[in-house]
Parts: sequence; structure tokens; C-alpha cells
Amino acid sequence: MLFGSKKVLGLDIGTSSIKIAEVDVSKNGAQLLSFAITPTPPNSVAAGEISDVTSVGIAVQGLVSDIHSKRKSIATGMWGTAVIVKKITIPKMERKLIQDQIRFEAEQYIPFDINNISLAHHVLNSSSTDDTIDLLLIAAQNELVFQYMSVIETAGLKCGVLDVAGFALANSFEANYGKFARDVVGILNFGASITNFVVIHNGDVVFCRDIPIGGFNYTNEIHKGLGISIQEAEALKLSAVSRREVPTEVHGIISSTNELVTEEVRNSLDFLSATTSGMTLSRCFFTGGSSVTTGLIETVSRVNGIPFEQLNPFHRVKASRKFSQNYLNQIGHFAAIATGLGMRKTGDGS
Ligand SMILES: Nc1ncnc2c1ncn2[C@@H]1O[C@H](COP(=O)(O)OP(=O)(O)OP(=O)(O)O)[C@@H](O)[C@H]1O
Ligand SMILES: [Mg+2]
Repeated sequence: MLFGSKKVLGLDIGTSSIKIAEVDVSKNGAQLLSFAITPTPPNSVAAGEISDVTSVGIAVQGLVSDIHSKRKSIATGMWGTAVIVKKITIPKMERKLIQDQIRFEAEQYIPFDINNISLAHHVLNSSSTDDTIDLLLIAAQNELVFQYMSVIETAGLKCGVLDVAGFALANSFEANYGKFARDVVGILNFGASITNFVVIHNGDVVFCRDIPIGGFNYTNEIHKGLGISIQEAEALKLSAVSRREVPTEVHGIISSTNELVTEEVRNSLDFLSATTSGMTLSRCFFTGGSSVTTGLIETVSRVNGIPFEQLNPFHRVKASRKFSQNYLNQIGHFAAIATGLGMRKTGDGS
């Protein structure tokens, strides 16, 4: 690139909140320079689709002005049902032929109209053999790509990197914990409408899927069970988690929803095993706004028999001294994807 900076701002657009992170990456490691988070404008993001581009664009512009950054380029991560990541095996061939082969493979495996998708791939060197190449096929509906581009343009910025949220989660993990060569590591980011799930093996993402369940399920069950508004239900949920007094039913609803979330995680673990010739997790990290829900991690861990550890996005990534430890603890659950994106460089990624 001739003009402008290659440095990007990491932008994570969620259903419940939008996060932005400015990270400095140097030989000495990575350092968080700025971070900001704001509630997502009501009804503007659903299932990963940005239905109200203008409102989200204005919210992003607000975040960028809050952090006073000079950077003008964005790295963001798509998620939801309009993005599919699938591991496939193709015969060994020259690298330059792979792209054509990918399109052919996508026609068979991706349930979207092939004429309206953007395709990318990432070769998995560690599991490829002499005769075959393993790769991750990444397909996103063009409509979704267009929505993200429009948000960034509305905010007066440029799109430097368009990534997949799950990959950014893996990037944050690696920057903080390194490559776990022997382990099969799972990471679950419990959000509002979805839970991003990625699996890393030998330094590669080998599985990436958004599980369609999250914090909103709790809120919605409380809303239905108590006959109160969504806003009231959300407030009651947060009160219950912070041990303030709430109607007893709320605790019951939270534990039954924990079972529901656990069931969904279980299904994804089965799916992982079925699509990777029996891969199982040896350890699992968790993060996300909903991961603090009372009893959630305990239930998921107990039922699936996997030890869970909290992913600290500031384990090795240091934070500028202007941040108090208290603030870092608060944003820690929300920051993994935005910081993982903030460490991308333009021209990076798949
Ligand atoms: N203290 C808390 N206790 C329980 N849940 C919480 C708490 N704080 C936030 N949440 C829940 O976390 C969710 C928001 O987390 P996060 O910001 O990670 O989601 P998001 O990225 O906006 O959602 P998604 O990625 O699913 O679109 C909401 O459902 C919110 O109710
Ligand atoms: Mg999220």
C-alpha cells in the first residue's frame, strides 16, 4: 500500500453491543491503546445481518470519535448464518489452481446461490498429505459483505480486512496463549444471539461455527415466563447474575436455559467429531458477555466433561497504563473478537 496506514481498528458488530479496539503490534508484543463499547441500536442487527446500516454506521462513527484514533481502516468480522466455514479435502494441485477448484467444491457443499457468494480459503498445512490438501472453505453471502462495507463507508472509514468473527477469536487466543501444539483447543464466545465456536489444532483453525444460542435466550425465556417486557427481563437477568433479589422463577429459568445452551454446545461437539474423524477437545476456553451467567460454564463443563478456562484477552496482550485493572476486568468478557481483529494487518488473513 502506498498511502495511508496499514494499521487497522478492530470492529466487532454484535446484536447487543458494538466494540472497537485499537491495538499496537510491534516486535515487543501487542498493546491495547484504546477500546470503546456501545449498545447496538435497537433492531439493527439480527442473526448477523445488519438490517439498519445507517444506524450501525452512525454508532461506529461515534465509537471511532470516542477513541480519538488516527486510523482510518477497519478490520471487521462477519458471523451468523450467511457465513459458512467448512473443512474440505481436495486432490493435491498447484496453488494457483486451487481457487477454481474451490468454486467447484462450493457448488457442491455450500447451500447458497454460488453466483451471490464471496469465497476464500485457508490451506491447513498440518493435516494435508502427499496426495491431498486440507483446507477451510469460507463462503459469505455477498449481501452480508455489502452490509459490512456499507456500515464502514457510512462511518467514513475504509475496510482493510474483512474477516470471520470466529477466526478473530482464534487470533486473540493465539496472541495471548501461543500455539498449543498438542492440544485440541476449543473456544466458546457466548454472545447475545449466538455463541462463536472455534477449534484450534497445531496452530490452525480446524472448525468454526456460530451456535445459534446465547444470552438473549435467557432474556426471552424470562420475558415469556414472567409476562414482562424484554427490557425488564434483561434487567432482571442481570440482577439475578449479580445476586440482587429477583423473583424465584428467574433462577429456575436461568438454570433450565443453561441446560438448553449446554445441549446446543453438545450438538456442536458431536458435529465437530463427526466432521473431523473423531476430534475431541482436550481443553476449552470461554469468553463473551453471557459467559458470566450463573451456572452456565459449570453446566457446560460438567455435562460435556471438559475443563473450562476463562480466555483473558489481556493475558499477553498488554493494556496501556491509562486503563485501570477494574476497567480491563469489565471489558475482558467483551473484547476478544475486537482485539483479535485489531491485531490484523491489511493484506493479512485469508
Ligand atoms: N453481567 C451479565 N450477566 C449475564 N449476562 C450478561 C451480563 N452482561 C452482559 N450479559 C449478556 O451478554 C450479552 C452481550 O454479550 P456480547 O456483547 O458478547 O454479545 P454480542 O456480541 O452483542 O452478541 P452476538 O455476538 O451474539 O451478536 C447479552 O445477551 C447480555 O444480556
Ligand atoms: Mg459477539
